[in-house]
Amino acid sequence: MIESSGYAVWHGLTPMGEFLRDNDPDMFLVSGADSHVVDAAGRRYLDARSSMWNVTLGYSCEPVKRAMARQLDVLPSGTVMRYEHPPRTTVDYAAALAAVLPAPLRHIRFGNTGSQMTESAAMLSRFYRRMTGETDRHTVIALHSAYHGTGPLATALTDEPVLHDYSAPVDQHVVHVTTPPPVSCEPGACTGECIRPVLDAIDSVGTDHVTAVMFEPVSGTSFLPAPPHYLETLIVECRRRGIHTIADEVTTGAGRVGAMTYVERLTEVPDMLVLGKGLSAGYFPLAVLAVGSPVFDALTHPPVRLGFPNGSTTDGHPLGAAAGLAVLDILGADGFFDGVRRRSADLVAMLTAAAESEPRLGAVRGEGMLLGIELVDENGEPWRVREVNRFRLACRDQGLLTSYSLGVLPLLPQLTVSEADCRELVDLLLKALAAYRPA
Ligand SMILES: Cc1ncc(COP(=O)(O)O)c(C=O)c1O
Repeated sequence: MIESSGYAVWHGLTPMGEFLRDNDPDMFLVSGADSHVVDAAGRRYLDARSSMWNVTLGYSCEPVKRAMARQLDVLPSGTVMRYEHPPRTTVDYAAALAAVLPAPLRHIRFGNTGSQMTESAAMLSRFYRRMTGETDRHTVIALHSAYHGTGPLATALTDEPVLHDYSAPVDQHVVHVTTPPPVSCEPGACTGECIRPVLDAIDSVGTDHVTAVMFEPVSGTSFLPAPPHYLETLIVECRRRGIHTIADEVTTGAGRVGAMTYVERLTEVPDMLVLGKGLSAGYFPLAVLAVGSPVFDALTHPPVRLGFPNGSTTDGHPLGAAAGLAVLDILGADGFFDGVRRRSADLVAMLTAAAESEPRLGAVRGEGMLLGIELVDENGEPWRVREVNRFRLACRDQGLLTSYSLGVLPLLPQLTVSEADCRELVDLLLKALAAYRPA
């Protein structure tokens, strides 16, 4: 019975052969509290991946649960897909969210997933060109190793050629730019060379054919944050050429980096901003696209009957908005983000100390609770992604859930993780390394 219900679940991102081989009917999760989850066999895991990086406030967030329960009682459903009678909670949430985003990103468009919203952003940029008569501007430039989700356009924006091949045809008007990690880009010392690959790509496509550049402020593959000055230069140079900039903060936003957004530290504001994952603390599918006035104004009187033809039935669902409002209250409490940054510094210090006695552990990357620790071989070379994935399973066997990446073990615990949880995380990581035998 349990076994057949297990086989009923399928998700394409896990090869089914692997899933069926490793399938253990008792591994299905049945409960969660704070930073831990429990499976059907009663095994307890420290969830250092926050489910899919989204359960940012843990599994016992009472204010979010209560807000959703209240909303269920009064208006359990609704939509903004047709802006006729939008749910009041959704309108209130949009206003509250806009107020904490960098001006002029004041107009909020709702969706359910990050993929839906990155696609929406790129399509909105193209739609804007219809409004302004620049109809040759189709191409979207994204950065090397970017992850922007799945879907015909989001997959194209994601720089994983294997996904392109196997999902083909994906959107053809996307160009990826090989950007060296811009670690040395500082104001004053910057020669502009750091964004040369982006400018070269714009020149080779033709400025009049490029509509937008999309970027993740901290790569979810390498866990290297982009220096603020690099992003500021990118925004200025794109604006000079009439090209939109789209910040994809699906992972970095809503507190992950110890702030509401990464881009709020910049002196320049991108034209569009995508948020998802932690917006509802993972308690409801919720993602948004925030746009500034120039884009919004151009859309107020579109010459087509439907306006911007993009959206889904459950956009602006009031349960997500109720969760989002409760999350904003928590994130906005005095000292919350300072606390996240302090706890992050504690965790980085513990990991760095562990790496001193464990040669397979390298440097810690990232910021806030968006961290990754390098895994290296005896020559200092990064572990291959397949190896990191095998090691992730060794971590799971010790009671530690993580994701995997090329040469890096991603560590994204909850923003509310305790000091004891951080200690447990490092202990379990060391135990997993002690037990691990390479293939
Ligand atoms: C930066 C970034 N953009 C977009 C997405 C896609 O979001 P979703 O999985 O909600 O579709 C993700 C998901 O991991 C992401 O990390």
